[in-house]
Amino acid sequence: MPFKPDQRWSDVTPRSQFMNRRQIMAGAALLGGSLLGGRAMAAGYSTDEPPNTLEEISSYNNYYEFGYSKEEPAEKAQGLTIDPWSVEIAGMVDKPGNYGLADLISGLTIEERIYRFRCVEAWSMVVPWQGFELSGLLAKVGVQSGAKFVAFETLFRPEEMPGQDGGTFPYPYVEGLRLDEAMHPLTIMATGIYDQPLPKQNGAPLRLVVPWKYGFKSIKAIVKITLTDVMPPTTWNILAANEYGFYANVNPGVDHPRWSQASERPIGGGLFGGRKDTVLFNGYGDQVANLYAGQDLRVDF
Ligand code: MTE
Repeated sequence: MPFKPDQRWSDVTPRSQFMNRRQIMAGAALLGGSLLGGRAMAAGYSTDEPPNTLEEISSYNNYYEFGYSKEEPAEKAQGLTIDPWSVEIAGMVDKPGNYGLADLISGLTIEERIYRFRCVEAWSMVVPWQGFELSGLLAKVGVQSGAKFVAFETLFRPEEMPGQDGGTFPYPYVEGLRLDEAMHPLTIMATGIYDQPLPKQNGAPLRLVVPWKYGFKSIKAIVKITLTDVMPPTTWNILAANEYGFYANVNPGVDHPRWSQASERPIGGGLFGGRKDTVLFNGYGDQVANLYAGQDLRVDF
């Protein structure tokens, strides 16, 4: 897929929308500057495909802590308290502990990354994230030898996350990556979208983004990161192991048992926008295919 160095969302956005957003951003920058400061250019990791609008990205969400529909998170997540926020770093690390968000992020470089985002439900978007490489955070806390996986956990706070109150969904939402996947430069922890702090419905204040994997790997509202030597449990795999594997790499050749993964519906394409073919590793194969050399992607789906 085409990658251009130094591509920014303003370069691939129609000028009228861009100007509009600039005005919004001017205000937002005053409010939320701290998480977005110190940004550097992404070198070659962004797509030049036009990003979805902020409206699209923040009104069509999957976030079961706030309900099962695509519309509920935008409304119901607004009551979530995200400041103060701390993240527990645990397991096989040199510097375990509870880190306040600002402490956790200090010294790390926030970059813009315009990534394709492909949900396992066969819809897709292009999102201009701001975030930092997870590898930087892992280096900062010191990964011990013998660690093989990184486990992530979402906040558990039923008073503010109504979906966590009862029901059969096992909360907190958990996810995991193999250490080499976590260390890959494409893997980021997002703190913003369109130069604004991450909307709550998109996983504020901190969520994972792994662009070559189905969206459910990109866990939101992270409060715990654990380095471990065993493959950690992951929420959708717990719910239906035959439908959702640990790896969840985007793969048009491995269908979901109940639907095809060969194509996808770009959100915002309009009624006549049509579908497009899904690409192995969501188009990031040049960068990530080597991580899976020798693995059978039908077995490790
Ligand atoms: N993280 C948590 N904690 N809870 C969720 O329900 N849904 C996942 C993922 N992360 C989810 C989550 C799924 S299925 C997708 S497709 C993406 O978040 C959606 O991210 P978006 O709403 O920013 O598009």
